[in-house]
Amino acid sequence: MLNVPSQSFPAPSSQQRVVAGGRSKVPLKQGRSLMDWIRLTKSGKDLTGLKGRLIEVTEEELKKHDKKDDCWICIRGFVYNVSPYMEYHPGGEDELMRAAGSDGTDLFDQVHRWVNYESMLKECLVGRMAVKPAAPKDYHEEKKVLNGMLPKSQATDTLAREGPSSPSYDWFQTDSLVTIVVYTKQKDITLDSVIVDHQDDSFRAETIIKDYSYLINIELSHAVQGDFSVRIVENVGKIEIVLKKKENTSWKCLGHPLENHNSLVPKKDAVVSGCRFHLLLLEGSRSCVSECTLYAGNCAGLFYRQCQLISKEDVTHDTRLFCFMLPPSTHLQVPIGQHVYLKLTITDTEIVKPYTPVSDSLLSEFKEPALPNNKYIYFLIKIYPAGLFTPELDHLQIGDFVFVSNPEGNFKTSQFQELEDLFLLAAGTGFTPMVKLLNYALTNIPSLRKVKLMFFNKTEDDIIWRSHLEELTFKDKRFDVEFVLSAPISEWNGKQGHVSPALLSEFLKRSSDKSKVLICICGPTPFTEQGIKFLHELNFSKDEIHSFTA
Ligand SMILES: Cc1cc2nc3c(=O)[nH]c(=O)nc-3n(C[C@H](O)[C@H](O)[C@H](O)COP(=O)(O)OP(=O)(O)OC[C@H]3O[C@@H](n4cnc5c(N)ncnc54)[C@H](O)[C@@H]3O)c2cc1C
Ligand code: HEM
Repeated sequence: MLNVPSQSFPAPSSQQRVVAGGRSKVPLKQGRSLMDWIRLTKSGKDLTGLKGRLIEVTEEELKKHDKKDDCWICIRGFVYNVSPYMEYHPGGEDELMRAAGSDGTDLFDQVHRWVNYESMLKECLVGRMAVKPAAPKDYHEEKKVLNGMLPKSQATDTLAREGPSSPSYDWFQTDSLVTIVVYTKQKDITLDSVIVDHQDDSFRAETIIKDYSYLINIELSHAVQGDFSVRIVENVGKIEIVLKKKENTSWKCLGHPLENHNSLVPKKDAVVSGCRFHLLLLEGSRSCVSECTLYAGNCAGLFYRQCQLISKEDVTHDTRLFCFMLPPSTHLQVPIGQHVYLKLTITDTEIVKPYTPVSDSLLSEFKEPALPNNKYIYFLIKIYPAGLFTPELDHLQIGDFVFVSNPEGNFKTSQFQELEDLFLLAAGTGFTPMVKLLNYALTNIPSLRKVKLMFFNKTEDDIIWRSHLEELTFKDKRFDVEFVLSAPISEWNGKQGHVSPALLSEFLKRSSDKSKVLICICGPTPFTEQGIKFLHELNFSKDEIHSFTA
């Protein structure tokens, strides 16, 4: 049995208290944690009131179920009875009620499109909409053969008017190689703009072009080897993905287009849909939904691949450095300041949490993106003994797997352009985005004159990579660090307390009156919210502040 503490959830110190558009999570009643919800869904109780039957729901019918004790919500064409979940929803009952009796897909996606509702609400599934508001395309409708000619109907349909000019692709071959070329028509394309996954015969390459996502998604006509290479021709914005044929035969065509192939959509709308198990569900029974866990992609939102745990190292008494290896058939470099989602199946339910990759050490030379075959992904993760996800992560054995999503986040290295002063304000594991930021800024920004980190923790024992940070102050004269402790021992002669205007005004000294400044802030919600408020009071503008949230 889980021993769930009786305080509000998430705990005040939890990073889960993240603001999204100014909202915070609500305290849940005792016995209403996620684990309690999972237990309820496994209890065999009829959570839909339909005794396991799946029905087709008309819009009229959906509208009728708009009360707290009788609340149906449609997400991506599937209708769920969320009344039993009301008291367990971390965003609160009122938030959930905003979508009562209607299609809540947009609302859901705006707040947390990464939340794995299919798995969490499996037992609440009422059925599908008779007329689906956001119908997945027929999986088989585009069984065209790709011979290098672009299927015109697709790309142009999904291009947004204000988006970048339409990318395109082509392919060519030699005896042993097949090269897929993406013409992005953008000059600032880098290796971290493209994410490639090749599983069995399916080949997927997602290119991030400004705030848009261009997808190539193909069932290849012939087998290729597991590994491949990705090259960027920067000055013309061309990406070349070179696959190795298994057999030296001439291919007549590249393959068949899969879901959303050759489409360009705003990144926030890029959805991995057409999950074959959900499609099966249309014909069959509820048990198909559970098979969703077998599918590498998440049919609701992000694309995932399995990564193997390579090492785990203690960094502080409760924080570990995890190293995962990407599959050889994946090319993924998480851009600086962005996070990914890790997914584990806990008691048969998929649980997803965000984490920010770090470098293997603060002192390592900054190699990305110059090192194309970077196959490892590192995380600094604090283990909460009574938490849901981190104890499971901590129990993984070397060689075990975890699902890792595509990156998300809105930090852009262009924010560093001409930067002179970089100030980093971090609390606890809010330090994680600062690691790559520090490495990148000190290595790549010639205009930089000063980088200062103010690192808030409870005690000295909680400070992550303290010796690395101190060493870095010797290695690079532009860098300085100040530790602030909220519960130090009496011998501590450094700064004490919580984030405050006094601490900040003393710390945030520009190197000249007009120097270009960026302040990055990350930590638990109260820390970030208060910090931003104080920064505004100190007359720093919105453009000079970047906060990290999910
Ligand atoms: C964008 C982003 C990036 C992040 N990056 C990182 C990172 O790089 N490293 C990192 O370590 N974290 C990071 N986090 C935080 C991370 O996503 C998780 O929130 C964190 O790991 C806690 O997960 P958990 O499921 O183990 O704990 P939770 O289950 O969320 O529990 C957290 C705390 O709440 C308490 N609690 C749990 N249930 C209850 C209850 N019912 N009542 C009262 N208290 C309860 C637990 O005891 C624990 O102390 C990030 C968060 C965001 C939003
Ligand atoms: C469609 C209407 C919904 C709205 C408006 C909504 C809103 C919110 C809000 C405001 C939060 C607080 C987190 C934040 O501030 O970012 C939240 C958290 C959460 N919601 Fe919803 N929600 C909706 C539907 C759902 C559904 C259907 C589920 C089903 C599982 C769900 C699961 C969760 C979970 C798991 C969290 C915690 C996320 C975390 O760990 O950070 N929500 N929601």
